[in-house]
Amino acid sequence: MQIKAKIIGVGHALGEDVLTNSDLEKMVETNDEWIVERTGIRERRIAKADTYTSDLAYRASREALEDAGLSPMDLDLIIVATVTPDFLTPAVSCIVQAKLGADRAAAYDINQACTGLVGGLTMAQQFIENGKYRHILVVGADALSKVTDYKDRKTCILFGDGAGAVVVSRNEDPDDDSRIVAAKIGAVGSLGHNLTLPFLRMDEEEKAKRVSKDLHSLWMDGSEVFKFAVRIMAEAVKETLADVGMTVDDIDLLIPHQANTRIIDGAVKRIKINPDKVFVNLPKYGNMSAASIGVALKEAIDEGRVKRGDTIVLVGFGGGLTWGCTILKW
Ligand code: UT7
Repeated sequence: MQIKAKIIGVGHALGEDVLTNSDLEKMVETNDEWIVERTGIRERRIAKADTYTSDLAYRASREALEDAGLSPMDLDLIIVATVTPDFLTPAVSCIVQAKLGADRAAAYDINQACTGLVGGLTMAQQFIENGKYRHILVVGADALSKVTDYKDRKTCILFGDGAGAVVVSRNEDPDDDSRIVAAKIGAVGSLGHNLTLPFLRMDEEEKAKRVSKDLHSLWMDGSEVFKFAVRIMAEAVKETLADVGMTVDDIDLLIPHQANTRIIDGAVKRIKINPDKVFVNLPKYGNMSAASIGVALKEAIDEGRVKRGDTIVLVGFGGGLTWGCTILKW
């Protein structure tokens, strides 16, 4: 019998402080009207100075394990998707493993930027379906405020901090059809230069792009990423549905990466899905990178928008540039 991989628990965490558009008006030359019209964002959650990505990831993980009814020792593997790790080594996943006391679990981080949670789910599906593991924790966590150039009005209005976590487990119940139906990921490395966050590569070209000349900050060509995002999210959804013989009409809820309401609207038009079936919480949080989709999934569940038997589609894009789509039967 085919082993199915199923999400059995979801958790989330948010930065403690609120950064509003009017706060940003005091920091850079911008205004609430421009930000709302061009991005849809009204406020973001910012981690305190001593709260790091691993702290957000840990909080979300605890909530997901509780939701799943599992103990940390049940976990076989922890995957954390992040581009803002506390350290390059140890990995955030290893810090989370230690804090949880998940001593049996292997742990590693992945870097697919905002696509990360979808990338982690793709791996978890493989490890579960091939029989290797029974319980996997997948976390998307980022504290982008720590790498945001608050002198650059083109980027600082966009980002917030958070974490979303899911527990993916083996479903051997023939009467329970809940599962990850399909997962597809991809990359267009030739467009990677449009969104950069240097680590070792501190060259003059990268320095010149940044308003504050701080190489520990993220830089982005917003309009290039925007074009990519609208196109790739639509293609990813259509192709992943087609792979398993499904159509847009089969979708009960679409949860896109929360980066910009205009990006979401553009993709929704191309996908030709009813906007009522699309979940958006971006105005409250801004773009939380790898955390966005997990936090949105958790809120959608809490709001009663995810019901047993529903088809839920997660779709993301991000630095790399990368993209990914997951179809879930809930
Ligand atoms: O998760 C993946 C990461 N990235 C993204 O998803 C971001 C994708 N891109 C975007 O969301 C949009 O491109 C932005 C919101 C970043 C920018 O919106 P846009 O409509 O592409 O604006 P633009 O960059 O073309 O700028 C238009 C004008 C410019 O002025 P000029 O040159 O026409 O005089 C900007 O300088 O708006 C100006 N501008 C601002 N004005 C007020 C840029 N940022 C601001 C600002 N406040 N914060």
